[in-house]
Amino acid sequence: MTEFDSSLMEQMRRHRSIREFKPDPLPEGMLEAIVSSAQMASTSSYLQYYSVVVVEEVDKKARLAELCGNQDQIRQCPTFLVFCADLHRLKRVCDREGTLIQTGYVESLLVAAIDAALLAQNAALAAESLGLGMVYIGAIRNEPAQVIAELGLPNLTFPIVGMCLGYPAVDPPSKPRLPLPAVLHRERYQAKAMDAHLDAYDAKIVTMEMFRHMETGEVYGWMARAARQAAYTDPKRLRVDVGRVLREQGFGLK
Ligand SMILES: Cc1cc2nc3c(=O)[nH]c(=O)nc-3n(C[C@H](O)[C@H](O)[C@H](O)COP(=O)(O)O)c2cc1C
Repeated sequence: MTEFDSSLMEQMRRHRSIREFKPDPLPEGMLEAIVSSAQMASTSSYLQYYSVVVVEEVDKKARLAELCGNQDQIRQCPTFLVFCADLHRLKRVCDREGTLIQTGYVESLLVAAIDAALLAQNAALAAESLGLGMVYIGAIRNEPAQVIAELGLPNLTFPIVGMCLGYPAVDPPSKPRLPLPAVLHRERYQAKAMDAHLDAYDAKIVTMEMFRHMETGEVYGWMARAARQAAYTDPKRLRVDVGRVLREQGFGLK
């Protein structure tokens, strides 16, 4: 903590993902308050390339849970949000104004995905400020074609990330992040000191006994876990369908 901690920053430092929720629904109007405040996130060129689909119907949440690797928190949370990159609305604007929207480049997807992510993180902070818990669901991209069908997402939209929202039924500890100097580089990227920062971080994570081998009980660090995860070759984990479905949705990836 520093002398510069605002109440918002203190709240941000307390963040932890919540994966067990009380059954209580969000009070009337709370979701609208969260998303409308989140809409004030900066947005590329003031174009607002995003949409959010809220799913509260029990059967629909259950189907989405299945499509997202059977993650039970999606079934359990009262409110599930899907943040989408959305060029569909902008195409409609271009059609009405008689211009031709350019969707052929990776850049269009990046812009829309960044906009959707900024909206999502603003919503996460707003929700946490109201005492709600949340967890992102990247697995919304496990079966993108089926999610698109389930949510009726039109051409030029794509589900970027899901979010479970609700009142926390648990209070897990926060996970420490990398040491600041491993992340914050002054004037140019400081690659030389990186190994020392990684070693210090790993030692801390080992001391906390955060990760343990199921069979051997042996404690391991963040690096062993990260290196294994980053090297997975399983097509499901790599979400190899994402590129194809993006193209089917009208995103060119030149
Ligand atoms: C884009 C994104 C996708 C994620 N997808 C999932 C997910 O599908 N399921 C899940 O349980 N957690 C998911 N998470 C949560 C991360 O696992 C979590 O943020 C990370 O382990 C750090 O823990 P913390 O949020 O408690 O600090 C996701 C987080 C992000 C940012």
